Amino acid sequence: MTTKTNLIKRIVDVVLTVLLLFIMAYQVTGDWLHEWLGITMTVIVICHHVLNYKWYKSLFKGKYTAYRIILTAADVLLLGAFALTALSGMSMSGHAVPFMYGTINVMSARKLHLAVSFWSFTLMGVHIGLHLRSMTAKFKFSAAVKTAVLSLFAAAAVWGGYLFFKGEIVNYMLFKTHFAFLDYEKAKWLVVVENLAMLLFWAFVGHTLTRLSQKHKSKADILRPIAWLVAVILAAVVMIFALKDKYSSGTADSWQNVPVPQASSQSDVPGTISRNEPGKDGFVLINAGSFKMGSPDSENWRISDEKQHDVKVSAFYIDPCETTQWDYESIMGSNPSTFKGKKLPVDNISWLDAVNYANAKSKAAGLTPAYTVSDGQVSWDRSANGYRLPTEAEWEYACRGGTTTPFNTQHSLSAQDANFYGHYPYEIEENYFDNSPLEAKPGEYRNTTVDVGSFKANDWGLYDCHGNVNEWCWDYYGEYDTSLTLDPTGVQSGTRHIYRGGGWNDFAKNMRSAYRAAGQTDMKSYNLGVRLVRNAAAASGVVTVNEQGAKNSGSENVLIVYFSWGGNTRGIANEIQKQTGADIFEITLQTPYSTDYNTVLMQAQEDQHKQARPKINGTVDVSKYDTVLLGYPNWWASVPMPIATFLESYDLSGKRIIPFCSHGGGRFGQSLTAIAKLAPDSVMGEGLSVHYSGGDSMPQDVSQWLKANNVKTK
Ligand SMILES: Cc1cc2nc3c(=O)[nH]c(=O)nc-3n(C[C@H](O)[C@H](O)[C@H](O)COP(=O)(O)O)c2cc1C
Repeated sequence: MTTKTNLIKRIVDVVLTVLLLFIMAYQVTGDWLHEWLGITMTVIVICHHVLNYKWYKSLFKGKYTAYRIILTAADVLLLGAFALTALSGMSMSGHAVPFMYGTINVMSARKLHLAVSFWSFTLMGVHIGLHLRSMTAKFKFSAAVKTAVLSLFAAAAVWGGYLFFKGEIVNYMLFKTHFAFLDYEKAKWLVVVENLAMLLFWAFVGHTLTRLSQKHKSKADILRPIAWLVAVILAAVVMIFALKDKYSSGTADSWQNVPVPQASSQSDVPGTISRNEPGKDGFVLINAGSFKMGSPDSENWRISDEKQHDVKVSAFYIDPCETTQWDYESIMGSNPSTFKGKKLPVDNISWLDAVNYANAKSKAAGLTPAYTVSDGQVSWDRSANGYRLPTEAEWEYACRGGTTTPFNTQHSLSAQDANFYGHYPYEIEENYFDNSPLEAKPGEYRNTTVDVGSFKANDWGLYDCHGNVNEWCWDYYGEYDTSLTLDPTGVQSGTRHIYRGGGWNDFAKNMRSAYRAAGQTDMKSYNLGVRLVRNAAAASGVVTVNEQGAKNSGSENVLIVYFSWGGNTRGIANEIQKQTGADIFEITLQTPYSTDYNTVLMQAQEDQHKQARPKINGTVDVSKYDTVLLGYPNWWASVPMPIATFLESYDLSGKRIIPFCSHGGGRFGQSLTAIAKLAPDSVMGEGLSVHYSGGDSMPQDVSQWLKANNVKTK
């Protein structure tokens, strides 16, 4: 082989590697360039194969050593993965080869592309690693230089391994994740360099395989490469644990005296205080004032129940932070939270838990409890000086802190402002389809609560009003009575209580200052906690509220109702049917949604925006059933609109609705609130959220969920 051919080969190899690093950085290239790089790469891969045509000729000749077997297997797999990546990519092409669009059904192409592109990437790394020895054979290095180079290679591989496993890329490769989540906040050069590190990790694996599969002079020749690889993997795993959570909670000891973040304008909040001593609880004074409650018609993604009206609020004290797990546990003696950490907000508490906690905290502080709780009835003595839940008006007034914008930051929230589903900042839904400018770029989705006070406070010194956990309010959910303008306390009876502010897994649109979430009194959730207040002004009177919801725990006559677009929810519904033998009704549409993934994303978003009620086929006699197991995919953080059509078409009062939801990472989103509002007179059971199809554990998860809800099984 001539030196010239060799040189061309090496240039092609380098170009391919560089292209790969950029093609895997979709957030750097954008749509158009990604497609064209893909086409370029396909052409160059073909050139690479033409230049290496001898490989084909010799495939069935000669002896297969261990090294050759591994090399050939990796190359064949890489070729297959690459061909599938190219084909699936072209099947979704909107720019480079639009005539290929739909060659493979676009929905399948999307899933396939995500999986096989990571296979191609991984195998390319291994392929490079397997050829490294032969490529560098002619360079003669001293033992010291060799060790130094190997150490550098290993260090890069550790970083790459850490990124690869932390990024859960295996889930993409195993078809478990169908939504690519991209970090647009990361510097572009870093995305490419990180890709290089991951490639080097796999090259290191390939290089180790070379060393293991070639002839060995001694035992050490085998043990040394194994030791290096094990060390690299172990170091990557240690990194994953060491860097796991930059918001990790503090130790129990340091928490006894909670450093309450300094409120900017309140002089009565000392820097470090003992939160359970009467009068020294660190609560912030909110002065009396008026504000416009609700959202203006012009606010994007507003919901019609946010009717804007003038409200006057008397002065009150409010906790600058959400109630922490230390706060809760030190009073109640137990910690029900899903995520554990003293400084994390308490979550997984019902409205009644929050009321009981407020009373217990009042007693501990020597204050008069605000509430009297008796079966189905809670009375609030407004003159009591004890702790209590904020009214919805107090909450919104304090959250806004004088602002009139959708968020109290006066700009759209980014993941640096609050803990929420950072991939989905405000108005991302529009941006998804028309690339309209975004005020806040998609950012980190932390997938957990974080220490209270981790972000900047609002202008009145309150932390985490948006995000982290939703916060229970006193009021029952109902239409605003706009004639009540002074200290409104909500409707007197109801079935759902208000909670506000959004949580760690909410989209920004559902964290707006005016957004109203609602849940049953006994509902508990991993993203729902509380923030207490107490009176600062004289008040009088008693507000008694009654629980209207029927108590229904029956499970004699069960109906499964579901809507599914891609089949995941259908799979779960069928499993439920198998286990219960219940009747089943699939919601189908008179005018079905598109079968194309990108189109249905847009249709679903448009339907949600205009709160459409798509017409559904057929009917079912729901009067025969006492329990409805209601299944749907999470669509844009809520229910698909056909579910709204169903819920509004039938009288479900007194019936138990138990939701099950298939999702791509957002769990229920705000779908439970949507159901709670759409079927206000039903009783809600404990929901089940399933990641995509639920995998192997789905039948077991379904079985446990049915049991928890006391639903009869066969
Ligand atoms: C239109 C549309 C919107 C989606 N929105 C979300 C979302 O907001 N959050 C999420 O976690 N998954 C989202 N997904 C993913 C689906 O919830 C997930 O793929 C689910 O398993 C689909 O269920 P199905 O196969 O029964 O239709 C969305 C999917 C589609 C098609």
